Parts: sequence; structure tokens; C-alpha cells
Amino acid sequence: MSRLVIVSNRIADLNNEPVQQGGLAVALVDALRERGGVWFGWNGEIGDRKEEAHVEQHGSITQISLSLTKKDYSEYYLGYANGVLWPLFHYRLDLVRYRSSHFSGYNRVNRKFAAALMPHLKFDDIIWAQDYHLITFARSLRNLGCRQRIGFFLHIPFPPPDLLAASSNHAELVQALMAYDVIGMQTFLDVNNFKRYLTDHTDAEVLENGDVRIGRRTIKVERFPIGMDVEAFGEMSQRITDDVAVDIKRREVLGRKQIIGVDRLDYSKGLPSRVKAFGRMLAKYPEMEKAVTFLQIAPPTREAVDAYSDIRDEMEALTGSVNGKYSDFNWTPIRYIHRSVPRNKLAALFRASQAGFVTPLRDGMNLVAKEYVAAQNPEAPGVLVLSQFAGAAEEMQEALIVNPYDIDEMADKLYAALTMPLNERKERHRALLEKIKRFDAKAWLVGFLKILEGGVEPVPKLPKV
Ligand code: ADP
Ligand code: G6P
Repeated sequence: MSRLVIVSNRIADLNNEPVQQGGLAVALVDALRERGGVWFGWNGEIGDRKEEAHVEQHGSITQISLSLTKKDYSEYYLGYANGVLWPLFHYRLDLVRYRSSHFSGYNRVNRKFAAALMPHLKFDDIIWAQDYHLITFARSLRNLGCRQRIGFFLHIPFPPPDLLAASSNHAELVQALMAYDVIGMQTFLDVNNFKRYLTDHTDAEVLENGDVRIGRRTIKVERFPIGMDVEAFGEMSQRITDDVAVDIKRREVLGRKQIIGVDRLDYSKGLPSRVKAFGRMLAKYPEMEKAVTFLQIAPPTREAVDAYSDIRDEMEALTGSVNGKYSDFNWTPIRYIHRSVPRNKLAALFRASQAGFVTPLRDGMNLVAKEYVAAQNPEAPGVLVLSQFAGAAEEMQEALIVNPYDIDEMADKLYAALTMPLNERKERHRALLEKIKRFDAKAWLVGFLKILEGGVEPVPKLPKV
């Protein structure tokens, strides 16, 4: 079995239990341990000292990391990855802030990563790059003479061709992406968007079996919906911490239900509309007053990008206004927590909530939707209210599917979730649980690696670009 080399912008913390970091880290770390491997990426530090890559051994896993300079961080991470690619790929052209120097910085860091990794590669390694930070990474490796198989998984959506074509450098980006051998995406919609772009805007040919032919190369482009470790999370949700137990008891005494939302404070997550929908539900169904609390956990993220500080202000104003209108001395309708919560507590809170409210305007997959289902008690499960624009909605049709732009519909479905009879809740939960078990983290990883390892033809030497 060849050695696996994972490349991601942020590396997993191998000093801590990966279970604290989620199913993806667990699955990747397991695979690396099993076959031996390398995890390569940014160590999270920003400094102007020129430093060599730092190599650390953790059992059979070699971790190779390097820091970014201030200029790298500002141009590659904030400027292009999160100021252009993130909004563009989430269909938000209005939030794109393009500067050509940021695109140059993005390419420079991808070249820097490639140059730092290259000396550590063995001739039969397989390399797997993760996410939108690394679109041009394979091209940089190929330019240094790398002939190993290289896969890419895009964790975020792939936009419709016309949207992508409205951005600067779209042709170069997609051309660079073609230096990968296998390209994985979350949903059928993403794969179709990508293939439509190729057909409409490039010389690439989409073959009958779905492969993409470009020049002398054939590239596999497939859907691999990402999943989580369902059993581990389910078990974790039952180990209730004392503070959560006290809160559950109090709500039981008061006969009060709980709606939960857990997201990074990102504009793609549809948080303001979610708060409005909760407020609308209280207005439309007055019996819900004091009968339910909405717990929204939303830690800060990427705050140096303007669009993120804007959403923070908007959320504070909105939660303040709903709470101002409805709060009483013994009831605060929205509990808004602006920080991260340990994973075991999160699991217990999901289990203790009668509705999971997951309403992104656009999302690659949304693991929170899966975690909410995994954490439920099958004998008395809560109900998932899920945006039609989350990648997860492609599989999870037994959730109450909502349009996150329609506040009234969200309010009605939220009410329906809170008042749904037990039998229907159990039926929906059973179907959803079966699906998330089928498409779990392991299935995602094994499925992708099988295709990446499958091709035995050597990668032809590519012309330098
Ligand atoms: P994204 O990748 O865009 O952040 P996902 O829903 O796919 O969205 O994954 C988010 C992950 O981060 C989930 O595993 C979720 O449990 C975790 N997470 C989100 N918010 C918090 C928080 N406040 N505290 C702890 N974990 C969080
Ligand atoms: C999403 C992206 C990941 C990213 C994570 C946290 O899940 O798909 O690639 O690592 O958000 O964002 P951050 O910018 O803090 O790495």
C-alpha cells in the first residue's frame, strides 16, 4: 500500500485527541496511522522569520508544517482564499473583493507549499490535497517534476459556470485544477456545475463514463459526500456533563423545549434569517412564548475579512431585538453564545434539543446537520430543519427541508418540528440515521482513496506552466 500524504491549509492537532476535532480529522488520522503517512500544511503561525518546514513524528505519522509570512497570510489566506474564493464558491459575487496581488500571493503560497513538500515525497506516495486553499497546488508540484498521483477534494460548493466565469482568473484556476488526477466534490450539483463549466468554457471533453479528457490526460471527477463518525458521536452525546444535566432538568420542570443552531459565524450560514424566522414563529404562534428557547452557538471566524465583522454586528442587533421584544424575568428566548464549545458538550446539547435548525444560504455539506441526527435518542428524537441549499439536503430529504430565503416557511416548519408527533419523528430519524451511517467519514475516505489509487497509468510529464 502506498504512503498517503495529506495536504491541507490547516493541519490537524496530532497532540490532542482527534475525536475533539471531528469525524474528518478522525478518519484522516486513522488512515494515516494505518498505512503510515504525512500530514502537511500551515502550522497556524504568522511570522516574518524565514523558517524551514518543521518536521515532527507522531508514531507512524509525520507532520510537516510551515508558517506563513504576514504578506502570505494577508494575500493568500485573507485576500484570495477567503476574500474571493469563499464568497465566489458560495454564490456570493457581491462579497468578492478581488485584487490581482492577492491572486499572485495565493499562487506564491501554493508554490511555497509545493517546494517545501517536494523533498519529503517518495516516488510511490499518493498525495491528497484538501479544499479551496489548494486549487493551484498540484500545478506547482507538477512544475517541480512531481509525477505521483494527486487528488483534490473540494469541501465547499462548486459554483454554476456563469458565476465562476464572472470572476477574474477563472480560466487559470480551472486549468490549474486539471493538474490533479482525481477531483472530488460534495454533491451531484457541484460535479454538474464543474462539468458544465468545462464543456462551456474549456477544450476539455466530458466522456460518457463521466471522466474528463484534457489533452492526453484523463481526470476522474466524482461526488464523495463527506460524513462523520456516527457511532462515536452518538456515544459522546450520552455522556452528559453536569452543567448540561442541570439545564435539561430545569427545562423539563418548566416544560420548555430547545432549538439548537451551531455554526461558525459565517455569512454563508444564514444566521440572520434564522433569528428572524425564530422571531416570526413567536409572533405567529403565541403558544410558543416561554415554551421554547433558541440556543445559537456561533464562534468567531476570519474576523479580519470585512464581511465577517458585518455579520457579527447584524447578529447582535437581531438577537437583541427579539430578546428585547419577548424576554421576561424567567425566560430569554435566544441564548446566543459567541465562542466555541467542547465537542462532547456540543453532542450532549444536540441530544437535549428538540429541533436542530440548520439553514445555510449555501453550504458544501454541513456536518452539523449530520451531527444533530447522530446525537438523537432514537426513542425520542428531535427533528432536523434543514436548508435546501446545504449539500447535506441532497441525501437528507427526511429532514424538514426549508428555503432559507423564506422566513415564513422557516417559521412554519420550525413550529411543525416542535409539535411533530413521536411516530413521525422516529420514522424520519430512522431514515436519516441510516443514510448518515452509509455515507460516514470512513466511506468518504475509502471511496476517494480507492479511485485515487485505482489509476495505475503513470502520470505523463506535463508542460511547465
Ligand atoms: P464548516 O465546515 O463550514 O464550518 P460544517 O457544519 O461542515 O461547517 O462543520 C463545522 C464543524 O465545526 C462541525 O463538526 C461542528 O460541530 C464544529 N463546530 C461548529 N461550531 C462550533 C462551536 N461553536 N464549538 C465547537 N465546534 C463547533
Ligand atoms: C470550512 C472550510 C475548511 C476550513 C474551516 C475553518 O470548513 O471548508 O477548509 O478549515 O472552514 O476555517 P478556517 O479559515 O478557520 O480554516
